[in-house]
This record gives sequence, structure tokens and C-alpha cells, in this order.
Amino acid sequence: MTLITEPNLDPELVRAALPADWPAPEALGFGQHLGPYLITADHDGSGWSAARILRRDDARLAIASGGLQYGLSVFEGMKAYRAPDGGIHLFRPQMHLRRLQASAARLHLPPVDEALFLRSCMLAVRVHEAMLPPAGRGALYLRPTIHADEEALGLKQAARHRYSVTVTPGSDPQLKSLRMWAEDELIRAAPGGLGAAKTGANYAAGLSGLLRARERGYDDVIWLDAATHRWLGEAGTMNLFVQIGGRLLTPPLDGTILAGVTRDSLLQLARKEGLEVAEQGIGLGQLRTAATSGTLGCAFGCGTASRIVRIQGVGSVHGEIAIPDNGLPERLSERLKAVQEGTAKEHADWRVAC
Ligand SMILES: Cc1ncc(COP(=O)(O)O)c(C=O)c1O
Repeated sequence: MTLITEPNLDPELVRAALPADWPAPEALGFGQHLGPYLITADHDGSGWSAARILRRDDARLAIASGGLQYGLSVFEGMKAYRAPDGGIHLFRPQMHLRRLQASAARLHLPPVDEALFLRSCMLAVRVHEAMLPPAGRGALYLRPTIHADEEALGLKQAARHRYSVTVTPGSDPQLKSLRMWAEDELIRAAPGGLGAAKTGANYAAGLSGLLRARERGYDDVIWLDAATHRWLGEAGTMNLFVQIGGRLLTPPLDGTILAGVTRDSLLQLARKEGLEVAEQGIGLGQLRTAATSGTLGCAFGCGTASRIVRIQGVGSVHGEIAIPDNGLPERLSERLKAVQEGTAKEHADWRVAC
């Protein structure tokens, strides 16, 4: 099978087309500057076509498609980094692929296989190499997406699907401190729902929670369990960790939250450091008691885009919980950055050369 056609687009075209006022890596932010090309393939029911390179401006989106009308679309968010020796690698692509396949299965979309996924992502990185910041100063974020592309109304499994990889360069995320609002009215996901799938419905359900948190003067939302509003789930685009009595806790993968690649990486790194870690329910009341009794060490959120953010306070209708910072978020963030960028030798299998 031909995996990819037209593999020879000259990366110099992208370099030459960068505007004269192209921002310094630290000013790129996240998601503001999209790569000019997509790597894309089509599925007509019998299998994926060879992938091809398309100018993003030429990509057609069918308004009457299931992807747009019914949210039949799943995606990934993964980063490519430049190592100090100049080499470029993807961070844990196989884990991202497994999650994309699980999301696709939940929405009855055709899965992409490892060969197509890796080759298309690597090609997207190589074509846009000029946009990838230097080592240590940022990354190229990849957004592989599968969506129902058949032009027909009516909820059904589509006869045609499209896979595409879009890229956007981003600054190296700084370790910020955020105040979070624990939302106790709206819900984002419930058992048996879509919470574990990386699909637009979760973000559509989540936007109003984020805006309501901001209206109250908070930075982001913490979603609680749908039935009792007592158990921590995850933030808008981050998994959560809390250290209580020396134990590092994170909510279990119960189908209502995303199985974060960063979450898994941190669990492994923390265990290696000798920390006691556990995937177990964390109650909002338990957080409050720990804060009052002095057993709360820290709390933080984590994700591909932001790496780690400290949580300095959690507000809710029951009042504000002040969260201390014992230095663990910063230590783990530096350790993870070193592994992601390849300045640390450990977990070499997490870095796949492009
Ligand atoms: C809802 C949600 N939870 C958690 C995460 C963190 O996942 P990851 O570490 O794989 O980026 C993300 C980010 O993609 C997310 O959107």
C-alpha cells in the first residue's frame, strides 16, 4: 500500500513564506500560527487512501457533513520537540495513537493505523520544520483529526471520512499558578458518556464552565462528578494531581476523564522518584480538610499544551481552599521537560525520531 504521495514538498518553501515579523519563540503563544499545509487522507469505507499534502487554504469542509453537524470527529494533541543535538522527535506518539483509536471506536469512526499515523505526523513536522522553535524554547503541536466527511444530513455512520494533521508552533509553557473554580451546576461528562474520548462534544460542553469560572474571577474550571458534585474530575484541558499526606493522588480513569499522556508520564516519573502515587478518587471535602489540617502538599494540572500548572486555590460554593506549594510541581515540570526535549537520557523510548 502506498502510504504517502507527494512526500517531497520542500520545507524551504515554508521557511521562505514565514513573514518578516515572525514572532520569537517566547511570543508564539499557543495555537495562533497554523502551518500552511495539512497532511490528509480519505476513507471511502474500504480503507484509507495514501496521504497527501494539501495547502490548508485549499482544504474543503463539507457544511452538511457528520463531522460538523453531529460532532462526529475525534482528535489528538501531541508535540514534536527539537533536541539539543538538532534532531527532531515526537513525544509518545504510540500512546497518542492508542487514544485516537479508542476515541474513534467510541464514535464509530474508522481508526488510522500506526504506519499512517507515524508517517503523516513525521511528514507534517518535516514540512513545517522552519516553524519549530529551537531546543528548549517551544515545540510544534500536532492536531491529528478524523472526521465524518460525507455530505448528507441524518445521524448515521458516514460513508466517507477524512484524516488530517494540522500543526501549530507554540512557546515553551511557563510554570503558571492558577485559581480554579469547582463547577457544581453544569456537568461535562457522566459515566457511560464521552468523557474519555477526545472529541469536540466535551469541549463544547466545557466552554460555558470555563467562562463561568472566569466571570467569577478564576482562571479555569474543575469539573466534578455528575451525580454528587463531590469528586474532582479534570480541568478544561488538563488532568489533576493533588498531594495529601505525602501521597500523590490523581483521579482514576473511570471513563469520565481523558487518559492524559502527561498524566501517565508524571505517574511514571513520580514513581521512579520514589514518591507514593495512587489513582484514586479525591473529594472536594477531603481537599478542604487536608488544607485545614496542614497535610496538603500541593495541587497541579497537567497536559500536553501547558505541561504543568500549579493550582494555588480552588473556589466553590462552599468557599475558597488555599493550596500550598511545596515545590513538587516545579520539580516534576523540569523533569518532564527534560524527558520531553531529550536533555535527559531516561525514557528514550518515549521519543520517536522524525
Ligand atoms: C479534557 C482534557 N483532559 C486532559 C488533557 C491532558 O491530556 P494530555 O496530557 O494527553 O495532553 C487534555 C489535553 O489534551 C484535555 O483536553
